[in-house]
Amino acid sequence: MTRPACLHDFELAAREQMSHMAFEYVSGGAGDERTLSWNTEAWNDIRLRSRALIDVLSLDTSIELLGRRMSHPVLLAPTAYQKLIHPEGEVATARGASDASASMIVSSFSTSSIEDVAGAATSPLWFQLYIQPDRGFTKELVQRVESAGCEALCLTVDTPVLGARYREARTAFRLPDGLTRVNLSGMQHVAANAAHRPQEGAIYSAVLDPSLTWKDVEWLRSVAKVPVLLKGIMDPDDATLAVESGVDGIVVSNHGARNLDTVPATVTALPRVVEAVGGRVPILVDGGVRRGVDVLKALALGASAVLIGRPYLYGLAVEGSAGVSRVVRTLRTELEMAMALTGRTTIGAINSSVLWT
Ligand code: FNR
Ligand code: LAC
Repeated sequence: MTRPACLHDFELAAREQMSHMAFEYVSGGAGDERTLSWNTEAWNDIRLRSRALIDVLSLDTSIELLGRRMSHPVLLAPTAYQKLIHPEGEVATARGASDASASMIVSSFSTSSIEDVAGAATSPLWFQLYIQPDRGFTKELVQRVESAGCEALCLTVDTPVLGARYREARTAFRLPDGLTRVNLSGMQHVAANAAHRPQEGAIYSAVLDPSLTWKDVEWLRSVAKVPVLLKGIMDPDDATLAVESGVDGIVVSNHGARNLDTVPATVTALPRVVEAVGGRVPILVDGGVRRGVDVLKALALGASAVLIGRPYLYGLAVEGSAGVSRVVRTLRTELEMAMALTGRTTIGAINSSVLWT
């Protein structure tokens, strides 16, 4: 195959490289995978306005997020079990992310310790939290990731249970010997290598707490020293509650269409969330972002930044840390092209007037 040039190419190349189980785990969605299709299609359904004769010789993709300057608005979404994909897993991802000046959000289900990931990263790290039924353990985990240098926590709130994931079921997903959720080891009653999946016929997972409520958000804010964002908000009413609960940011996400099938695409949900939040906290969005024009559209609709999930995992599968870096750089280059062609030289100049309405 020719060298992958864009994010779609990386997916095609990764399918050849990855084990069948790993590829199905990464690429799959829930149910009939309608939302999985919509997540990408809905970006494509939005039309752009190109503008002529604007000096675009100098472009600046930098943003400020939670008081931090970032050289572009693309972050790596938290994804579990990266050693399924590459022997160095999250450590390789951290290197690739840093090389492309991208912040990385490390999953609670990472297969490398947060200290090892932090040792490899020179760009900001955030930590994605799945609050565990054992709150004492969870509190220690929060303190541990803060000590390792994580600058924010993304509390995932869209997964009291997993969705109906038939690709995982058909491939009998399990963690290969030697791989564990290292950051969660030491918890009583839960083996570190037990799958996140429920037993057949059951819906609950040993490592997800189905009883979480807004009280737990309050609790987390009381124990965390770093900013707390909620990941997995789709409904404007939840966005309002999130702001009222005092969180520092929101990630509009449907978990990469892996949980509730037939929820709308995230870009369909984004405008209502933006309206409900009214600029009080930054809003990020993920799901189906595959092109620089998608990033531009997200920003035009009021997002401060985007996250990508599957694309960098495909980069990791194909070229290791260099692949992660190349995926992010490609997206950034495409964003610069889109900015130049719509006549916007800064991120701040990207607003709804780039959209063809
Ligand atoms: C995820 N996602 C996820 N989210 C989370 O909060 N914690 C996690 O551990 C994981 N794990 C995970 C594994 C894999 C293989 C995938 C593909 C996704 C969801 C992820 O953070 C993000 O919301 C989506 O991946 C974004 O959609 P795209 O870019 O993959 O379309
Ligand atoms: C996933 C989980 C583990 O989406 O977050 O696979």
